[in-house]
Amino acid sequence: MTAPILDIDDLKVAFSQGGRTIHAVRGVSLTLAPGEVVGVVGESGSGKSVAMMSVARLLDEKQATITAARLDLDGHPILGMKQRQLEKLRGPTVSYVFQDPLSSLNPVLTVGRQISEGLRRHRGMSRTEAKDAAIELLRQVGIPAPELRVNQHPHEASGGMRQRMMIAMALALRPKLLIADEPTTALDVTVQADIIRLIQQIQRDIGMAMIWVTHDLALLARVAKRIVVMYGGRIVEDAPSSRLYSAPAHPYTRGLLDSTSRFDVSFREQTPIPGTPPDPSLPITACAFAPRCARATDICRTKIPTLDQCGGGQSVACFHPLIGSAS
Ligand SMILES: Nc1ncnc2c1ncn2[C@@H]1O[C@H](COP(=O)(O)OP(=O)(O)O)[C@@H](O)[C@H]1O
Ligand SMILES: [Mg+2]
Repeated sequence: MTAPILDIDDLKVAFSQGGRTIHAVRGVSLTLAPGEVVGVVGESGSGKSVAMMSVARLLDEKQATITAARLDLDGHPILGMKQRQLEKLRGPTVSYVFQDPLSSLNPVLTVGRQISEGLRRHRGMSRTEAKDAAIELLRQVGIPAPELRVNQHPHEASGGMRQRMMIAMALALRPKLLIADEPTTALDVTVQADIIRLIQQIQRDIGMAMIWVTHDLALLARVAKRIVVMYGGRIVEDAPSSRLYSAPAHPYTRGLLDSTSRFDVSFREQTPIPGTPPDPSLPITACAFAPRCARATDICRTKIPTLDQCGGGQSVACFHPLIGSAS
């Protein structure tokens, strides 16, 4: 077996905030092979972004405490690393595209300058070489008149163009792993479709591994062969997408599917899952979904279910899964 590009075992992230502890991630394990594309889905607040930002240690560690049995990126243990070592990995090894490009693009620097910076630092390019490479990257992500755009500032571009610029920046060093966190949520539907196609095409061209984070399960049907479902800071299901859509094992996944209008199966009425997400400031002693689950019994309210295989490459953390040997 080839060495994984990402190997996470029992990742926990807690924030201290006004005397309270917010348990954002409560024990996530995830292994990703080189070139593999995985979708991460879950409702808002389930810990998707915090877990993914931990991969390159992007969280403010004055507030966040990250622990894990293992957190290896391309074979490098991330947790003990000095900032200087981490910066060598950010760009060529792991790169991010976020929902809001304005929060990641620097407003006072030209687009070209921001893309070139990484190329000069990591590849030792001269100013002119890096600018030419930036123009080429802007062309690749479908920006018209790149030789003019390269001299503009981010606010001079539309939302869709800014997202393309950010993708160009994220891809400049041909990362081994791209983490796209809700990259199209802020865009209108037609621009969304273009950006999704663009990212997919580049993913295939470079053969990079990718994690696609979203609250939109329908979107993942198009982009990921494997989907991980998060609830309350934990993974509750991990399955090949075909299985996940046709035979979800976790009642929460079923609920997500039922509340999503989908194009790939017969239409179902939209039924949002009743109830509210778990309080991240409370410790967990049971299945976090139990209060919202029609299948819950006493054991669900007293024990924490572990993520176990239930056949067909599918894993589920549930005492009463909808399929598999345990049901
Ligand atoms: N800097 C922070 N300080 C305190 N709590 C935070 C911080 N960032 C995120 N959280 C909390 O962590 C939980 C998970 O957040 P997040 O990973 O952003 O969710 P998602 O991306 O799945 O919507 C939420 O309860 C959120 O409020
Ligand atoms: Mg998020």
